[in-house]
Amino acid sequence: MTTKLLIDTDPGCDDAVAIAAALAHPDLEVVGLSTVAGNTTLENTTRNAHAILELLDRTNFPVARGCDRPISRELVSAEDVHGPGGIRGDLPEPTAEPIDAHGAAFIVDQAREYGDDLTIAAVGPWTNLATAMLLEPALPDMVANIYLMGGAAMTGGNVTPEAEFNVYVDPEAASHVVQHARPKMGGLDVTNRSTVAAELIEDYADRDAPFDTIAAWFGYEDADAVRERGIEDPPSVHDAAVVIDIVEDIFEYETYPVEVNTGHGPSRGATICDTRGTTGEEQTVDVAVDVDLEAFRTTLAETLENL
Ligand code: BDR
Ligand code: CA
Repeated sequence: MTTKLLIDTDPGCDDAVAIAAALAHPDLEVVGLSTVAGNTTLENTTRNAHAILELLDRTNFPVARGCDRPISRELVSAEDVHGPGGIRGDLPEPTAEPIDAHGAAFIVDQAREYGDDLTIAAVGPWTNLATAMLLEPALPDMVANIYLMGGAAMTGGNVTPEAEFNVYVDPEAASHVVQHARPKMGGLDVTNRSTVAAELIEDYADRDAPFDTIAAWFGYEDADAVRERGIEDPPSVHDAAVVIDIVEDIFEYETYPVEVNTGHGPSRGATICDTRGTTGEEQTVDVAVDVDLEAFRTTLAETLENL
């Protein structure tokens, strides 16, 4: 049976790989995208989402524009990583328009329509998801699963020593989600290690569209800067690993209480994971603690061949 999937996203190069993998996987049926400000402005993430779908010739479902900024902070973007406009590679100038519904309302609508047939993957800042949960507090109980890309439970951050980008951008949203949903959180603990081999990228770069563009998406991170954070074999394809996990169980999870630091100082956006139970708080977050790298690489490569 296929899993109906709504992707909340801020494309973004690894978002683009995640969307491509979701569209190509035989066990996933993408029922919609909601876009959010994150890697770049909302205008750009929405345009990029449409461009990705047009490149892949898959425009048969709705795209809804969501929140154009974090709940209570200025947007911090990552165009320095993902490229000017938030994405790399050759993409068509999109012609499609987003639907006439806000992304957060769209998430609620989809949850009401599909109920526990629906899985949500939030792979940008969790602003739309938190807003959807404020609109419909029962949302987490209505859907099958909520997968999150974000956080750094037991490892260091990629924006600050403690904070991962999606959580750093909107800590208030992240705090609401970890407190009120029972999510599966694929953070840097596993996604840093979810890398693709250089040979695959070289192979894609020599092929026709869309593979030459996917090669450019894979080339988004500054490999030397990433190696300095201890990742041996970049690029990490964070968002795609979370999407692949939905159908291939490549992550191993342990359940803990997690709290997000909503301060403004150096610990802004830190995800504090209480592995020893010292807080006495309820264990509500399935935290991904290990990844089967070979399974990730094999599945991703096989899946993208279906494009
Ligand atoms: C996350 O940050 C973004 O730049 C990526 O798209 C990914 O969702 C990784 O920390
Ligand atoms: Ca993302």
